[in-house]
Amino acid sequence: GKELTDVSYLVEEILGSEVSLRGRVHNHRLVAKILFVILRESGFTVQCVVEEARVGTSMLNFVKQLSHESVVELIGLVSLPKKPLTATSQQVEIHVTKMYCLSRSLLNLPLAVVDAARSEADIEKSVKDGKPAARVLQDTRLNNRPLDLRTPANQALFRIQCHVQIAFREFLLSKGFLEIHTPKLMAGSSEGGSAVFRLDYKGQPACLAQSPQLHKQMAICGDMRRVFEVGPVFRAEDSFTHRHLCEFVGLDVEMEIRMHYSEIMDLVGDLFPFIFTKIEERCPKELESVRRQYPFHSLKFLPQTLRLTFAEGIQMLKEAGEEVDPLGDLNTESEKKLGQLVLEKYKTEFYMLHRYPSAVRPFYTMPCEDDSNYSNSFDVFIRGEEIISGAQRIHDPELLEKRARECGIDVKTISTYIDAFRYGAPPHGGFGAGLERVVMLLCALNNIRKTSLFPRDPKRLAP
Ligand code: 4AD
Repeated sequence: GKELTDVSYLVEEILGSEVSLRGRVHNHRLVAKILFVILRESGFTVQCVVEEARVGTSMLNFVKQLSHESVVELIGLVSLPKKPLTATSQQVEIHVTKMYCLSRSLLNLPLAVVDAARSEADIEKSVKDGKPAARVLQDTRLNNRPLDLRTPANQALFRIQCHVQIAFREFLLSKGFLEIHTPKLMAGSSEGGSAVFRLDYKGQPACLAQSPQLHKQMAICGDMRRVFEVGPVFRAEDSFTHRHLCEFVGLDVEMEIRMHYSEIMDLVGDLFPFIFTKIEERCPKELESVRRQYPFHSLKFLPQTLRLTFAEGIQMLKEAGEEVDPLGDLNTESEKKLGQLVLEKYKTEFYMLHRYPSAVRPFYTMPCEDDSNYSNSFDVFIRGEEIISGAQRIHDPELLEKRARECGIDVKTISTYIDAFRYGAPPHGGFGAGLERVVMLLCALNNIRKTSLFPRDPKRLAP
């Protein structure tokens, strides 16, 4: 009947109190008839001392044969260890009076071994040899994701991800935005192109939403004025890369604008530094945990977010000896290269590039007033990789329809979207970011699968 205590609360201030804990058998070792069990819960660890004199012989034998990773519950006294502890996160220890097993683990291996091994065979070998093998292959980790998620770095990454969403919401709510949810089942594709999952909607052809694009704009037509959404986005990506998933979490914003699309960039320029600062403030331990496994330095960003035009970016690349098509898009390598040049010149790893060529932007993007070869659009980069794309949208239905046709879109499938603009629509724009990419680049990780709880990529639909 006693309430369970979190392992992270076990500190010297509560020495002498009796606590009830639940966790996993992280490790155990027998030293001169005393059994030391390391209990782990949510990445925190505490040493639990099981002595025959206190628990009796049968209880000691019972605990001794518990497999690694089994789920146990115990009752004990918070005590001071004889020597300072180095291997656990908590500095006090627990003198166990009772211990129960709630669920046995089949995999009788310390998590540290699982974490460091390369394959199933390697795991067995390293257990036999009693030492960790080389790094686990990503696929092995992902195949065993429920186990892999238990590692300290993963525990930390998903807390950081949660805090990115909290800060995103917090900032936008404080600026008068309304949180909405748009449908994920659609008659036509929202971004065009081939990266769309098609399905049968009770006899009618349909697709999974590639973004909330069309509906967030229709919400603006419905006088919602400033909206945002955090929700799933589906892309039937063919390319198997370090930064593309087939399903990711979209952080989307759409808003009325008064004068200029720079108002959207102003918002991005305040919102993301707010998120970065909140993560540093609220997740210091988590950042530390991630760093221990994947070392990285904190993101360098300026108080005033740097903005360059696409033409300026091209010019910088040109001066560095890189030829890029001024009316084409930047490929991944050019983006990386430009990121390096920007870092050297402006000392920032977070910046925006705007006024992109119209030809490389979606049909709904507003062309520039002075030159329709360019558009009122922008991309945002962290450490030389794209995390956001945004723009002002076309709110004139005739032009919108014309652009859709020019881009090869079957306008019948998006007729309700185009019709929404026939009853008057204010100038507006917005942007979309990918949550997994934001966290990946914040922590300078090399693969987006690390920041997706159960990643979906062109080859993976399980677990
Ligand atoms: O650049 P994208 O495709 O833009 C849109 O979806 C627009 N509707 C946004 C807008 O409001 N104008 O996607 C936006 C962001 C990218 O910058 C990237 O961070 C992420 O979504 N993203 C992906 N993340 C993971 N896997 C993928 N396959 C992604 N594709 C895009």
